[in-house]
Amino acid sequence: VASQGNSSDAFLSCLSASIPRQLVFTPSSPSFTPLLKSSIRNPKFFTPSTVRPLYIVTPTNASHVQAAVLCGRRSGLRIRVRSGGHDYEGLSYRSVRAEAFAVLDLSSLRSVRVDAQAATAWVDSGAQLGELYYAIGKASSVLGFPGGLCPTVGVGGHFSGGGFGMLLRKYGMAIDHVIDAVLVDAKGRLLNKNTMGSDVFWALRGGGGESFGVVLSWQVKLLPVPPKVTVFNVPVTASQGAADVVTRWQQIAPALPEDLIIRVVVQQKTANFQSLFLGTCDALLPVMSSRFPELRFNRSDCREMTWIQSVPYIYLGSASTVEDLLNRTTAESVFSSGYKATSDYVRRAIPRDAWASIFTKLAQPNAGLMILDPYGGQIAAVPESATPYPHRAGVLYNIQYMNFWSMASGDGAVQTRWIREFYAFMAPFVSSSPREAYFNYRDLDLGENVVVGNVSSFQAGMVWGQKYFKGNYQRLAMAKAQIDPDDYFRNEQSIPPFANSR
Ligand code: FDA
Repeated sequence: VASQGNSSDAFLSCLSASIPRQLVFTPSSPSFTPLLKSSIRNPKFFTPSTVRPLYIVTPTNASHVQAAVLCGRRSGLRIRVRSGGHDYEGLSYRSVRAEAFAVLDLSSLRSVRVDAQAATAWVDSGAQLGELYYAIGKASSVLGFPGGLCPTVGVGGHFSGGGFGMLLRKYGMAIDHVIDAVLVDAKGRLLNKNTMGSDVFWALRGGGGESFGVVLSWQVKLLPVPPKVTVFNVPVTASQGAADVVTRWQQIAPALPEDLIIRVVVQQKTANFQSLFLGTCDALLPVMSSRFPELRFNRSDCREMTWIQSVPYIYLGSASTVEDLLNRTTAESVFSSGYKATSDYVRRAIPRDAWASIFTKLAQPNAGLMILDPYGGQIAAVPESATPYPHRAGVLYNIQYMNFWSMASGDGAVQTRWIREFYAFMAPFVSSSPREAYFNYRDLDLGENVVVGNVSSFQAGMVWGQKYFKGNYQRLAMAKAQIDPDDYFRNEQSIPPFANSR
């Protein structure tokens, strides 16, 4: 405890030379707890027993980030970087084990600069996805970007782990379109694509947040969208044959034209087919009747709008507006329900009788839900080693499992057990050796780092690393050894350095 005290005092006095005092918060400051809570999305990581930061630093420019890293290293205090705070395991603001750390909260670094002429944008990590989409929509009605659905997700964590949403079949992952990045490394250097080197630039784009340093901003390529898109949401209940329609969907959805994505949210006894089509209702109708007649889709299901209008419509509902994409405040209601999530990839269609069992399990008390995102199209056209994100050709769809509970009525033990049992039940039907998982749907049940000699072990990290990254895990560990051989930037699932661990 004494040495913790010394290192934290040293951190503060070191920082005072380079960062205005009002940007550094200690637990005694009245703003500390509201700031800590401001982007927490899973309140199960905001309890009296949560291991919280000693400080929160809110940099407003790159030199503040450089100073925080240098002071952190000098005084032996680790840093956890937070952009949007949506990490499923809360690793951007809490530690699993007792540890002294500071949170570097990037929420003040959130500018978005769109160059519509060049079809590019620079976006700071602290921006939320909604702010990026909004700025693109303001600059052009025919440009878009393929990232996640939830507008409050932070660009920093999202791009670090890959990022996919309704444009995934047309344009693949967010990281497939990152063309430059600005990084503060463990030596406090400010690097870009050329100065960080090609291995590190490769690793940043999907190799997971925290591991390689602090990414301050990203340059992305923007992509064409038509002036009009069509959205639909068609529910099919179990009694209407949901198990049959989902069974068919597995074959159809990954093979549809790239302009069309139909994802499914399966909850209780209903499968909700949610879609974005890059074109008009007139163009969509014949595709649906020839390719997916089982859905009994018709003209009254179509909602035509601009791409930017479709973003809030799909995630926030039909009453939302484009301006809602800019809303950053965490509703207090977020603090009423905790959740547990995990993921799978399906490479062979799941048989009809297994779907019948799945629907039975989803109808149990305290059951969770499944979100099925179909692959194929451009996400599958990128080679597995082109980026760290390896779940490409051959994947039919991604599954996300989620289960929620009211924080007022329990600690989520029952719902968490349900997810774990359901995940075990699904094993025969999903990818294996490794059982693939999506880094951005982080799950510590898949494994945690083991620190040996003050460095995370490469061997131990394989357990979770190969699930997220398959054969790219070792190359990520080699990039880590180049940029942060001492493993300063680390958490429970950060990439271990390869060279140091043998
Ligand atoms: P957060 O700030 O918690 O960071 C996540 C991780 O990255 C942490 O380890 C953190 O230390 C590190 N990190 C953050 N910023 C960094 C930076 N600038 N430099 C280096 N490391 C950094 N995903 C998806 O692909 N499609 C989707 O549609 C959705 N939808 C969705 C909805 C909701 C409600 C949630 C909670 C999450 C999603 N996600 C998602 C998952 C999301 O992509 C994932 O949680 C991201 O990591 C969140 O990024 P944040 O910046 O918000 O998280």
